[in-house]
Amino acid sequence: MSEPVIAATEPFAVDVKEGKSYWWCACGQSAKQPFCDGSHKDTDFEPLEYKASKDRTVYFCGCKQTSKNPMCDGTHSKL
Ligand code: FES
Ligand code: FES
Repeated sequence: MSEPVIAATEPFAVDVKEGKSYWWCACGQSAKQPFCDGSHKDTDFEPLEYKASKDRTVYFCGCKQTSKNPMCDGTHSKL
């Protein structure tokens, strides 16, 4: 498995809507961070679905090094 690209060294705050699905970019190559734009097609990565259980602000990992995909777990602060 290759390593993901570090798209950003901080999380992306997104206001999610209850019941809506969001596809988090795991490869780091999307131009539409933090979401997948199909750029993973030549990589070993697949996007990860996040389904919002309620309206709220969540923090999607931008560095792609988190152990709590797709959410930021603070790992970016060590990069
Ligand atoms: Fe990165 Fe799809 S573009 S997972
Ligand atoms: Fe990746 Fe915080 S942005 S762990």
